[in-house]
Amino acid sequence: MTTHTLKPLLRSTSVALALFTLAAAGAQARDAAAGRAKAQMCMVCHGPVGVSTAPDAPHLAGQPAIYLSAQLRAYRAGERKHEVMGVIARTLTNDDIDNLAAWYASIQIEAVEPR
Ligand code: HEC
Repeated sequence: MTTHTLKPLLRSTSVALALFTLAAAGAQARDAAAGRAKAQMCMVCHGPVGVSTAPDAPHLAGQPAIYLSAQLRAYRAGERKHEVMGVIARTLTNDDIDNLAAWYASIQIEAVEPR
């Protein structure tokens, strides 16, 4: 095998490895049903299906799981600062966060352009 044929092979192997790693990480938790149960404690502000009822709380329905879990981890670590969310996020485990993110991401939303 020459280096010409080896290089693309190596590249595709590392892509495959990266995909495998992502899939393995995703298999840890991401249980939307468990997230739904946990979301009872979020409803008072973020609404029963993630469409917020509190004017200062953002909608969570349909947000990408990767975004939601990053925000919850940032609140928990104190990297994103908010008094209420900081306190709430500190009660959450990594599995809780991944499950909550899976639940809110699974909610379908529809955007309707104003007339
Ligand atoms: C007492 C009201 C309240 C409760 C309860 C609450 N939140 Fe929040 N949440 C807020 C507010 C207010 C913000 C906006 C904070 C900010 O400005 O950073 C927020 C922000 C967030 C964000 C960031 C969203 C974005 O668009 O960046 C996420 C994710 C989130 N909350 C998830 C949750 C989850 C999950 C729970 C339940 C475990 C929960 N929240 C419970 C009030 C609440």
